[in-house]
Amino acid sequence: MLQIAVLISGGGSNLQTLIDRSKDDENCGFKIITVIADREASGLIRAENAGLETLLIDRKAGSENLSNEISKILQGKADCIVLAGFLSILDSSFIDEWKNRILNIHPSLLPDFGGKGMYGMNVHKAVISSGTKRSGCTVHYVDTGIDTGEIISQLSLSVHESWDAEQLQKEVLKLEHQLLPETVSLLSEKWEK
Ligand code: GAR
Repeated sequence: MLQIAVLISGGGSNLQTLIDRSKDDENCGFKIITVIADREASGLIRAENAGLETLLIDRKAGSENLSNEISKILQGKADCIVLAGFLSILDSSFIDEWKNRILNIHPSLLPDFGGKGMYGMNVHKAVISSGTKRSGCTVHYVDTGIDTGEIISQLSLSVHESWDAEQLQKEVLKLEHQLLPETVSLLSEKWEK
């Protein structure tokens, strides 16, 4: 069983899908061992309600200290880290240490609409103003760039002409909630072998 740590900064709806999947499907292949937030994220309540260990490490400590703390906590305990709406940048030595063991979910079809400043609603606003007809979400490995790591899986949708950024966010989130637990489950199968 793959032991995963989930890192969050916000509402944690993606975290919830991982919690639900691990609870409802005994063959999902993964178990959440801890949930770490870099700020007072409301998603921590979801983790507490599920009886999971939670930790808050203030991002104001800086990227290096934050990464060192996380590293200490997860050493020998987690097999893989899932960034589920985690907004802090992790230190490059931490990323090297966890190479191909950190996954991130991003609310666009990478490589489009990724990079610095492209997170949450900013992504959906940029998609709408670009007039592009397709969007979606991506799960990728985290490397030392921003949203540049190898793409693992994607789901896409047609952007309806009448949608604003809020509507697009809602529709993309529905896809994220399918893609993230499915991808973690498939990877755990692969990694177990
Ligand atoms: C999700 O849409 C996720 O893709 C996005 O933050 C949201 C978190 O929602 N992540 C990024 O933009 C990272 N670049 P949640 O807290 O409800 O899971």
